[in-house]
Amino acid sequence: MRLSDLTSMASPKSVLGETSAPVESPRDLLTVRDFQKAARKVLTKPAYDYYRSGADAECTLRQNEKAFRKYLLLPRVLVDVADRDLSVELLGHRFSSPIGVAPTAYHKLATADGECATARACAETGTLLTVSTLGTTTLEEVAAASNSPKWFQLYVHKDRDFTRSLVMRASAAGYHALVLTADTPLLGRRLRDVHNRFGLPEGLTMANLPAEPNAGDKPASALQSYVAARHDASLTWADLAWLRSISPLPIVIKGILRSDDAERAVLEGCAAVWISNHGARQLDGVPATIDVLAEVAEAVDGRVPVILDGGIRWGTDVLKALALGAKAVMVGRPLLWGLAAGGQKGATALLQNLQNELSTAMALAGCRTIADIPRNLVRARR
Ligand code: GLV
Repeated sequence: MRLSDLTSMASPKSVLGETSAPVESPRDLLTVRDFQKAARKVLTKPAYDYYRSGADAECTLRQNEKAFRKYLLLPRVLVDVADRDLSVELLGHRFSSPIGVAPTAYHKLATADGECATARACAETGTLLTVSTLGTTTLEEVAAASNSPKWFQLYVHKDRDFTRSLVMRASAAGYHALVLTADTPLLGRRLRDVHNRFGLPEGLTMANLPAEPNAGDKPASALQSYVAARHDASLTWADLAWLRSISPLPIVIKGILRSDDAERAVLEGCAAVWISNHGARQLDGVPATIDVLAEVAEAVDGRVPVILDGGIRWGTDVLKALALGAKAVMVGRPLLWGLAAGGQKGATALLQNLQNELSTAMALAGCRTIADIPRNLVRARR
């Protein structure tokens, strides 16, 4: 852990005009929870609420984290774990750990450099970054901010020419895969955003997209209005075939929770299956992602990598997900907490902390490499 690197963590500037409180002493930022507490102090309420919210009653939001506690680790002893190797290969690129960054929107709400700070933190830590369509920085600027491999997350818009242009821009900018988000025909209702009448503050835009409809009307949630107006709610598997036909990039499908959908995704030529409930922000009442992992991984049967996001807060959570069949996991909110707590340095520290936690967990569990993590490392609590 290079916590000493963090001594000059800058106070992020609030784009809503409120003064940011000084960040915690870096020595206090040991866990994702610590970063979240620090982030809460510096973010405006609407921004914090936007990042933290789940849909409706937030049952799935609670479950995503809680469900990990149902799985117990059964460590092996007397294994040589002196030199651990956490690296993994995903779609032809090697990353320093199986912990990647999930697409999340609006990084300039967290820090002035927004998505570019995230890209540099990912490069510093050898982390796969998935860049959101809903960035506050253009996808080209994020691509140019670092040399490390990135994927681009795509929402299919009703305007197919516009969708095609996003695909071509991502390919031209050097992204290595398209991540099709399949769970968002409409935006789930996040009650805090509705109460806050949440929209991007003056000076920030959805940099990859046409102007929001109703700008100036103060809709209950500007993003909800955007999605309702522009996303293609009629999207089907046939459109995936269309996307494949126009995309020079491999397609990863994100938002899978069922084994039959996973099977279909493999048959339709997807390069990876990404288990996600969208950070519990879409359909409330769906299972925690960790609870469907084993059955989805069984259906996929090693034909393509299985990726999981949702509720990863500890290195031991990563270990459990890998044992249950994930090739990699992705973190969304934790990265945002790091970014808000200390900009690029905060995001870097957050990712390093998680990598260190995983490394320690692997040592204590008797696993030297990722390939050494056996299925029977995990047992459901009786
Ligand atoms: C965007 O994808 C969101 O969940 O807010």
